[in-house]
Amino acid sequence: MKKVCIQVERSFGEKLRLLLIDLDLLDSDYPITSEGQKLFLPIRFTIDDSMLSRLQRQTTSLTLVQRELTPQKHRPTNLTEILQDHIPAQFLPKIPHSLDVIGDIAIVELDEELTPFAQEIGQAILLLHNNVVAVYSKAGNIAGPHRLRALNHIAGELRTHTVHVEYGIRIAVDVANTYFSPRLSTEHNRVVELIQPGEMILDMFAGVGPFALLAAKRQPVTVYAIDINEHAIKCLKKSLELNQLAGEVIPILGDCRQVVEEQLSGQFDRVIMNLPHESIQFLDTANAAANPAGAIIHLYTITSEDNPLEKQKNQIITVLSRFRKAISIVNIRQVKQTAPYEAQVVLDVQIEGTKTTMTT
Ligand SMILES: C[S@@+](CC[C@H](N)C(=O)[O-])C[C@H]1O[C@@H](n2cnc3c(N)ncnc32)[C@H](O)[C@@H]1O
Repeated sequence: MKKVCIQVERSFGEKLRLLLIDLDLLDSDYPITSEGQKLFLPIRFTIDDSMLSRLQRQTTSLTLVQRELTPQKHRPTNLTEILQDHIPAQFLPKIPHSLDVIGDIAIVELDEELTPFAQEIGQAILLLHNNVVAVYSKAGNIAGPHRLRALNHIAGELRTHTVHVEYGIRIAVDVANTYFSPRLSTEHNRVVELIQPGEMILDMFAGVGPFALLAAKRQPVTVYAIDINEHAIKCLKKSLELNQLAGEVIPILGDCRQVVEEQLSGQFDRVIMNLPHESIQFLDTANAAANPAGAIIHLYTITSEDNPLEKQKNQIITVLSRFRKAISIVNIRQVKQTAPYEAQVVLDVQIEGTKTTMTT
């Protein structure tokens, strides 16, 4: 069919394309075509002379022409667009706008009312995200000692193992049997940027090892990575085969309290404590693992109205003062919002020399 297009020199094509998108004038149902050095951008409706001269001021000489064009297959850009003909209109506002993609697996949170349409939503996610091959919906909160969440398979391959890439490292993850959140990537990187070459690092709650792997990828360091979940340690061992590291990661399956007491006391420059609901209860273990001369502890916790940050800061200082001559909280950062009045927070705590007599 004949379609009105704006003809422009190729060198001005991109500038004009962005301008037309801004003005909601570009008709994406039709292709942009070319002939020699000329481009033809299809527009949604014909424009008057004043609009044409406004566009000319922004770019260069433009002309309106008619071209014979065939509509192109429209690629949907969001889930609602794909699902509008498949689920009743009253449920469309409940369709999620975000999801977690771990490797090639997507995990989505569905409102209860969308449960009967879970498979359609899963298929729509597969259609929208070329890199996704399996889709699961969340079937509960993260819970239990291994910090896992039940999942329902809703579309694609029935597979929970994948490899996620974060800051250039390849991380093996089993989404059903290990904890991993792509939303922590900035935090993993923040901590690793603080690390100096040669450091001895202990990751007390390593999970599949994102802190440990990234640290050892960037620097010649030694990282002991402990986790109580055998699936997490299996994944970490697999990741060690997938990455070329500058440093060394030593995975240990076990309870960090016992492991530190039996084999790892007094040797670490940096201790990572990422078990937000319980970290404070493990501070004595972190202190025992830390170098007697001094160390940095990255402690993750959850703050809420019932458990405010100030109270937790006092608790941390009280516990560590029993063992150390000086303690300073050098940085506090909100990692993510976890509920309306609840957030995950990290405190970077510097501890100095050990006390010879411990106060109780
Ligand atoms: C929130 S996840 C942290 C994962 C990881 N640090 C990350 O950034 O992805 C907490 C991990 O601590 C492990 N865990 C819980 N209690 C433990 C303990 N007493 N000793 C060692 N690991 C433990 C769980 O199995 C889980 O993998």
